[in-house]
Order: sequence, then C-alpha cells, then structure tokens
Amino acid sequence: MITEIIAHRGASKIAPENTMFAFELAYMLGAEGIETDVQLTKDNIPVLIHDESLRRTTNGKGYVKDYTYKELQSLDAGSWFSSDFCSARIITLEDFLVWIKPKNLTINLELKNNKIDYINLESIVYRMLKEHCLEKRTTISTFNPTSVKRLKKYQNEIGVALLTSRQNPNLVEYAKSLGANALHIKYRLVNRSLITEAHANTMAVRVYTVNRYRQMINCFHEACDGIFTDVPYKAVTLRKVFQY
Ligand code: G3P
Ligand code: MG
Repeated sequence: MITEIIAHRGASKIAPENTMFAFELAYMLGAEGIETDVQLTKDNIPVLIHDESLRRTTNGKGYVKDYTYKELQSLDAGSWFSSDFCSARIITLEDFLVWIKPKNLTINLELKNNKIDYINLESIVYRMLKEHCLEKRTTISTFNPTSVKRLKKYQNEIGVALLTSRQNPNLVEYAKSLGANALHIKYRLVNRSLITEAHANTMAVRVYTVNRYRQMINCFHEACDGIFTDVPYKAVTLRKVFQY
C-alpha cells in the first residue's frame, strides 16, 4: 500500500498557503493530491482561505463572510509570506477546480465550518464538484460532526472524512455512525490498531500535518492512506529512498 502525498494548503512551506503559487509548486514538485480550506463569502462564493479572519494571510481585516468576492479580490494574499508573492490573490473554489481538472491530482476540500457553520456550504461545494465532474477524485472533510452528517448523503459519490485531533477509543465506530468513509487525524493519534480497525471497516486514514522525516517514515510504515504535508517534495523523495 502506497501512502499518498497530499500538499497541505499547497506547498505551503515555500509559497503562501492556499494560493495558486502554492498549488502550482505542489503540482510541479510531485504532490499527488492537494488539500485546501473552504470558506464562504457574503455573496455565497466558496473561496480558499484557512482562517475565518483575513488578518493573518492577507492585508485585509475582519471576516471572510462579511465581504463579497469582488471586495476580497483586491486583497494581497502573498506579502505576509514574502514580498515576492505580492500578486497572490484569494482564489475561488471554481478557479481551483478549473485548474486541477486536467491534472492527475486528488482533491481534498476541507470545509472550514467548525467555527462558522456556513449555511448550505456542503450542497454548494457538492454541486460545484458535480458540474466539473470531479466528485470521484474528491474527499470533503470537516471537523464539524454535524456537517459530516449532512455530507452523508454524498458518501457513495464523494469521500467524506471526519477530521479530528481528539483521542477516542471508539473513533472508527463514531466516524462511521456520522456517515464518514475516511478519517483525517492529527499525527499524534497514529497507531497501528486504529489503522487496522479503520481498514477493516473500509475507512481510509490520512494524517496531518506531517513535516518531519521521522513522522513521514512512521506513516509510510503504518500504512496510512495519505499524509498532509507542507513539504510534499520532501515526502516524495523520502518515500522513494525508503522504497515504500
Ligand atoms: O485537512 C487537514 C488539516 O488541514 C486540518 O487542519 O487547521 O491545517 O486546516 P488545518
Ligand atoms: Mg486544512
């Protein structure tokens, strides 16, 4: 079993996260999938940005939900990282899907609805994936268990993952009961019995955020289905060297 290498917010160690620069670099440097974070604008456009607030990764302030996409378009989403990226912009999910469609990459859309439970985010994202015929290579994930329940009806067409950082002896059972068919767990939760149990229940296990060599090797060794990493090129090389 080969552990899939998924670029976490793109190649986010060397380019501003969730921008086209980070996605292009991840693709060119050998990532096999892209993970990105989805929030909703005031005019209901899904956009790719990790935080609910604009402060950390743009020159704007306030919340994504309080601006129209047109307003957000004028923000600089790269200079916080380096002045070399001052042309980076917040992009829409639509832009991202158009970009990724012809490429041999899997897609993980993380709905950022655990703090703000955006109305209809699940169905808006699902419809867009259908329009682009991308549902088969996409997993939608969220930390919000209620949202996982709402995604359950799509689980035959799309991967549905429960994200968690919490220890829970009944995690596989719990995720299944919500309607998830994958588990996306924090690195410290990785252990053989959890992975064996998940696999026995046809549930994939992917792990975030795996940036260190030792962690990568452990995930390969424990047959994790995927890792989310800010340094996909490092993981690709390591996996080759260790012949996993
Ligand atoms: O989807 C995996 C990982 O991205 C979850 O946490 O905070 O980096 O979005 P976060
Ligand atoms: Mg994420």
